[in-house]
Amino acid sequence: MHLGILTGGGDAPGLNAVIRGIVVRAEAGGHQVTGFLRGWKGAIENTKVSLDRESVRDLHTQGGTILFSSRTNPRNLENGFEKIKETLDENDIDVLIAIGGEDTLGVADSLAEMGVAVVGVPKTIDNDLSATDYTFGFDTAINYVMNSLDKLKTTARSHERVMVVEIMGRHAGWMALYGGMAGGAHVILTPENEFDTDKICAILKKRYEDGRRYALVAVAEGAIDPGLARHVYHSAEKDSFGHVQLGTGIGIGEVLKNEIEDRTGLETRHVVLGHVQRGGSPSAFDRILGTRLGVKAVEIAESGENRKMAALRGTDVVAADLSEAVGTLKTVPDEHIKTAELFFG
Ligand code: F6P
Repeated sequence: MHLGILTGGGDAPGLNAVIRGIVVRAEAGGHQVTGFLRGWKGAIENTKVSLDRESVRDLHTQGGTILFSSRTNPRNLENGFEKIKETLDENDIDVLIAIGGEDTLGVADSLAEMGVAVVGVPKTIDNDLSATDYTFGFDTAINYVMNSLDKLKTTARSHERVMVVEIMGRHAGWMALYGGMAGGAHVILTPENEFDTDKICAILKKRYEDGRRYALVAVAEGAIDPGLARHVYHSAEKDSFGHVQLGTGIGIGEVLKNEIEDRTGLETRHVVLGHVQRGGSPSAFDRILGTRLGVKAVEIAESGENRKMAALRGTDVVAADLSEAVGTLKTVPDEHIKTAELFFG
């Protein structure tokens, strides 16, 4: 078989482990692998690189993706899907393995519907993809959040300050919740539940009155108090999948910091963790998960099953329906948030 692979959307630590897993398993099965560059852009423009075992040696230790990534959406380009099919035909690709999040896998699913042989590999640091228990990159990212909170806690304590920490996650609060719980944040705010800044201020004031004169507030970039929405400002520009570019303009972290200071008089600072959360070397968990998903993707391709993706279910890596991953986002269940709330204040 000749396998094509591409990586699309925001990068995640572990992508290179998936690429290495695919290439090593493909070679073991006697298959050839071609990597298309910059996500769907490379599949449209036929920009590619040939991959063999030597080219992926020790790659699982490296963050990012050697195939580069973009948010190119073939739906917005004239004959985008036709061009992808032409590229695949021209290169005699038997199966295309698309590694990406909801958007990339959505395109892969549409291609599968058109009869193209496609296998998906779920990826996002946000951990908000259905059909898989965890996505690679999430573990590395929340460890960074945890370490950041550990550091911010000591300086917050020295200066008796409130630190508001803005964490990635536009629709789901997995990173704020898990990173916040691990790092011992005193309040955690997620996009799943609108919050009331007055209630947050009351928690913080009580904490100070009780003699614990510092606090960490972990807020997901997509969390909102409807009363503050007008102060949050993002660039009017949207990416090609229609997402507002969070992290541009004035985010919820900065707005909340100003409100807390105004309403409580407590000295407050804000930190936007930003893209550092996506960078660097993957954790052991993400190296292993990426590797296993890559190997499984080749096995699915060999099986001849179409419209599937490699997914983690419990401790098993299985073939799941691609359509499941692109149907609904996996948001944080209420019971997880309730557990975290026990530790607020
Ligand atoms: O890929 C997910 C993500 O990291 C989100 O958490 C974040 O909102 C977004 O990507 C940032 O996108 P970009 O890299 O385009 O700024």
